[in-house]
Amino acid sequence: MWNFQPSVNLVKGGAGYVGGPTMAVIADHCPNLQITVDDSNRDNIKQWNSPSIKNLPFFETGLEEIILRVRNKNLYFSSNVNETIINSDMIFLCVNTSKKNKGFGVGQASDLKWVESCARQVSSYSKGHTFVIEKSTLPVRTAESIKTILNSSNLVEKNHKTFSVLSNPEFLSEGPAINDFNKPDRVLIGVEEKKPIEALENIILKWIPNQKIIKTNLWSIELSKLTANAFLAQRISSINSIAEFCKSTGGNMGEVVNAIGTDQRIGADFLSACLGFRGSCFKKDISNLVCLSIHFVLSEVAEYWNCVIKLNEWQKLRISKLIVHNLFGTLRGKSITILGFAFKANTNDTIQSAAIDISKNLLEEGANLIIHDPKVSEDQIFSELAIKLRKLKNIQDSNTYKGAGIKENNLNKSFVNVYEILILTEWGIYKKINWKTVEKIIRKRCWFFDIRSIVDLKEIKNTNLNFWKIGDGIIKS
Ligand SMILES: NC(=O)c1ccc[n+]([C@@H]2O[C@H](COP(=O)([O-])OP(=O)(O)OC[C@H]3O[C@@H](n4cnc5c(N)ncnc54)[C@H](O)[C@@H]3O)[C@@H](O)[C@H]2O)c1
Repeated sequence: MWNFQPSVNLVKGGAGYVGGPTMAVIADHCPNLQITVDDSNRDNIKQWNSPSIKNLPFFETGLEEIILRVRNKNLYFSSNVNETIINSDMIFLCVNTSKKNKGFGVGQASDLKWVESCARQVSSYSKGHTFVIEKSTLPVRTAESIKTILNSSNLVEKNHKTFSVLSNPEFLSEGPAINDFNKPDRVLIGVEEKKPIEALENIILKWIPNQKIIKTNLWSIELSKLTANAFLAQRISSINSIAEFCKSTGGNMGEVVNAIGTDQRIGADFLSACLGFRGSCFKKDISNLVCLSIHFVLSEVAEYWNCVIKLNEWQKLRISKLIVHNLFGTLRGKSITILGFAFKANTNDTIQSAAIDISKNLLEEGANLIIHDPKVSEDQIFSELAIKLRKLKNIQDSNTYKGAGIKENNLNKSFVNVYEILILTEWGIYKKINWKTVEKIIRKRCWFFDIRSIVDLKEIKNTNLNFWKIGDGIIKS
């Protein structure tokens, strides 16, 4: 049985949303392990090592406290990737696997260049026996390619290197990620032979009960991860498709959700009408399933999963059109407040955030956007919108869009004289806004779109705001 001793190093490649917090939680539960988190991005590592805990590369509830406990005790951050590999017994691959932006499978297949480069580094610099663990979400049978790459270096035979490849996909959801790591619904481990599982299992068992660990063959685990995300995304598209005609048929979205969610076979989770799925995973993982279906010549299956994505895109466009429509079909020169830019609350991640698409649509129509988010920086917003917005406080300066935008850090100031207010991220502070007070500084008969369905209707009733709520449509106008 492999049972790591205090001197044994555990290393991982990729200090991103998955790599950094996962390794921090392992370090917290396993003080006997020495863990080095490496990343080829030096700026990222600089932020992880920053003396100020507020400068970590991203925000996750509870992360700062853990980092303060374990950093430089048994958790280290390094940009010297090769050196950390030399000293490692176990390597977690947590590198990015975003979609290809050119070549075969463009826009659908995962780009495996980071996985390949990481595997090549491990092949060249590892010593003795190394456990290589896939944590990144990968197309089915990637472990096979990883094994081939690991064994491809001339040094492997010469220096008697050996490898065990395991799959241990991550199911965290950003925002409550630390809680997800500490109390997962289940942990999946896939491997070809039984023995290497023990090495990883011995670590996980330090805080997760045995009955939550599911062990299967590698390919089942790789497929399970893609399938789990595809099913969650499919529920979101399904409920959004119902929301559209709920109001026009006299139905109430909340009542429909409650009625179907209490059926145990359906369950209540992931049933709220919303802007669609966002974040780094769902769209990418469904696209992977589409590629897999095409590869196995299952065109109907490919079409089925493609429709889930199509419905998601349609939902964002539909809401953008509605926002324009309610301001008489023109936004030129009109100020609109956007509350929330992160793809969900309690994270500063903006990847695939619906706020990006909606902002771009509104800018194209000539709107002046006043964007507020408690955690997303001005630089991040401007870089996501891929424009020179920083200079565009004056609408005439715009070469890219007809409209302009600013980031406003003062919530109250973000409402001054606006025509429309949109809640795009469900941050707690937006639930506490006093709308009666806001009413005094916005324009008369301002439209308010609660696109996250977080506002208490009672708070809106006594105002003159025109009110639209996702799932229920126009409530008050
Ligand atoms: N973010 C999530 O919520 C989430 C949840 C579950 C699974 N996943 C999956 O986990 C994987 C990682 O996701 P993420 O969100 O952490 O990505 P990320 O982009 O935040 O982080 C990946 C990091 O890997 C680094 N990297 C790339 N090549 C490297 C190399 N050769 N050596 C060292 N570092 C290298 C990059 O610089 C980057 O910082 C993806 O496959 C993703 O689909 C993500």
